[in-house]
Order: sequence, then C-alpha cells, then structure tokens
Amino acid sequence: MIYPIVIFGAEALRKPSVAIDPEYPELKKLIEDMFLTMGQADGCGLAAPQIGKNIRLFVVDCSAWGEEDENCKDYRRAFINPEIYEVSEETELFNEGCLSLPGMHEDVRRPIAIKMRYLDENFEEHDELFEGFRARVLQHEYDHLEGKVFTDRLAPLRRQLLKSKLLAMSKGKYRAAYKTK
Ligand code: NI
Repeated sequence: MIYPIVIFGAEALRKPSVAIDPEYPELKKLIEDMFLTMGQADGCGLAAPQIGKNIRLFVVDCSAWGEEDENCKDYRRAFINPEIYEVSEETELFNEGCLSLPGMHEDVRRPIAIKMRYLDENFEEHDELFEGFRARVLQHEYDHLEGKVFTDRLAPLRRQLLKSKLLAMSKGKYRAAYKTK
C-alpha cells in the first residue's frame, strides 16, 4: 500500500523514534510499502515518522545520482536502528528538500562524511563510512528519527524568514503531487 505522507506541523515529525526488533509486526511488508510510497512521491529518502510511525527505520534510493556518484548506482536500501557515531569536521552546503515540507528547498550545511552503524532489513549488522550524496541523504533521514527536519539546521535568520511559510504549511497551505495527511 502507498501511505499518505505526514506534513510539517504533525506531531510524528517532532517525536524521537524508538528502536525496533525482529518481532516488529509485518516489517518486510512495511519496508516494501515505504519503498513504494517513496517511489510514487519521487523521493530519495523516506523515514518511518513521515508515514506517522515513530520507529527507527528509513529507506533511501540514491539511484538518481548514479551517473555522478558511482556509490549511488542502484543504491536502494533500508536502514534499521541506525547510529551515526562519527562525522567529518569538514562540512558543505547542499540544496535539500523533504517530502514532508512540500515546495521548500534550502541550502543546508552538514558534514561531508559520516560513520554509521545500522541493521539491514534482515537485521544483519553493518558499520560503514559514507561520503558524498549518500552521506547527505542518510543524515537527512537520520534527523527524522530524532524528531528534526532540515529547516532546524538553517541559520536563525533564514529560519525566521521561512516562519510564515512553515506556519501556513502546517495549516494545510501547500501543494503536493502525492497523497498527504
Ligand atoms: Ni525529509
């Protein structure tokens, strides 16, 4: 099934999410549905809070960047209980958007590389270094599990300028080409 995507202002986007174990009901189906939901909304990442579930799970699809970045080629993955335990000192700006903040795109500063431990959909453990576009997407999705969205990372002045637009969005004034709630 395709889930409606929760929009800025919803409580689920602000609550920290909880870790899950292999007993989580119908996890395989949920992951499949999250890939479907992300795909139909043309997103490159989707975190469980964005479909109203406060669990530590997200999916990413970096394949659109496969031409520029070899690591992104056919890169579609699910991440469970991730933990970013190291970030690079070096940071860069990158223009981000979010399915939960339709129509908004802002330059966000983040570390260029991260080390992250996580479980895949079979609960196999991984510990990897990520750079480039994957590091960007993973940090964005990870933030969702912490109850953060990308506008939280903007300079205070920029955030102030976006305040009314965000308020309007939270009251239902936005356009999205996908199902929302
Ligand atoms: Ni997002």
